[in-house]
Amino acid sequence: MKTIFSGVKPTGRPHIGNYFGAMRQFLKLQNENDSGVNYFCVVDYHALNLVQNAEEMRRLSLDVAIDFLAIGLDPKKSVIFKQSDVSEHTELAWIFDTITTVPYLKRAHAYKDAVAKGGEEDVSAGTFTYPMLMAADILLYDTDIVPVGLDQKQHIEFARDTALKFNRIFGETFKLPEAYILENVQTVPGIDGQKMSKSYNNTISLFASDEEIEKAVMAIVTDSSGERPENVFAIHKLIRSESELEKIYEENKGKYKILKELLIEDLKTFIRPMRERRGEIAKDLNFVKKVLDDGKEKASGVANKKMQQVKKSIGVI
Ligand code: AMP
Ligand code: TRP
Repeated sequence: MKTIFSGVKPTGRPHIGNYFGAMRQFLKLQNENDSGVNYFCVVDYHALNLVQNAEEMRRLSLDVAIDFLAIGLDPKKSVIFKQSDVSEHTELAWIFDTITTVPYLKRAHAYKDAVAKGGEEDVSAGTFTYPMLMAADILLYDTDIVPVGLDQKQHIEFARDTALKFNRIFGETFKLPEAYILENVQTVPGIDGQKMSKSYNNTISLFASDEEIEKAVMAIVTDSSGERPENVFAIHKLIRSESELEKIYEENKGKYKILKELLIEDLKTFIRPMRERRGEIAKDLNFVKKVLDDGKEKASGVANKKMQQVKKSIGVI
């Protein structure tokens, strides 16, 4: 019996990097974990570092809940909820802030990237303490396994360190979670060859229309060496076996247009059913809201109990 927890930030449309890097594993673990509990969370307070417009926040958060259902997460098997609906997350994050040092948080890749991008002056305190809110998300539910993409590995280590530190200071309270990262996927590249990311404008949307798929694939950057177009191959191998592809790419050496057209067809076949299912779910927003309300109830019960234990451990009750 395992507890699975993961979160997705409502900062933009999900892309195939999110899917192959993490969301597909949500589905696999959900379906294998009959006797356990699975939590999939729309981490809206994490997104608040970037999304600072009420209407956009509402829309993007509901969108992620629809996306979860469209990929096959099942409210009968999983607790689907919004982070801001369970205030214990931010409450516990504060407690973690008090046992964590500034130099430790300065080691976080996400913080370093933010400093590299805009300078320290522009980094919000929320971005700086981001890993403590994520540690709270995970540790509140006595999570065993956290399915994520490779870029989140350090954050899971921070959650483990924080659990260990809390337990050392206040006594055994938190379980140590493990990251679940697929070796053969790791980081999905975007159409420019960098990491595919909602903030780089280099994505292939998970629910893209046929035209959007064509446009994105045609824009994949290739070099002109006549060798295998690695950026095209790297995306193609997510949806077709590598051995099959090696043959096709060898036979069509240097014929970038043909290879891209093949990728377009494969992506269309892969994306279409999910996009159609998403369209159906999006028609019934009352159902989606009901799923989030039920999720809130279930998650709150567990989080509240854990928080009582934490509050006793630290001596505020
Ligand atoms: P986010 O949208 O940043 O909340 O990411 C949701 C999940 O997708 C996280 O587990 C990320 O690690 C994963 N992810 C995001 N981008 C990529 C990528 N390019 N390749 C693999 N996994 C990714
Ligand atoms: N930091 C994660 C990301 O950027 C999102 C996230 C927040 C998360 N809380 C989490 C992932 C807890 C797993 C578990 O993708």
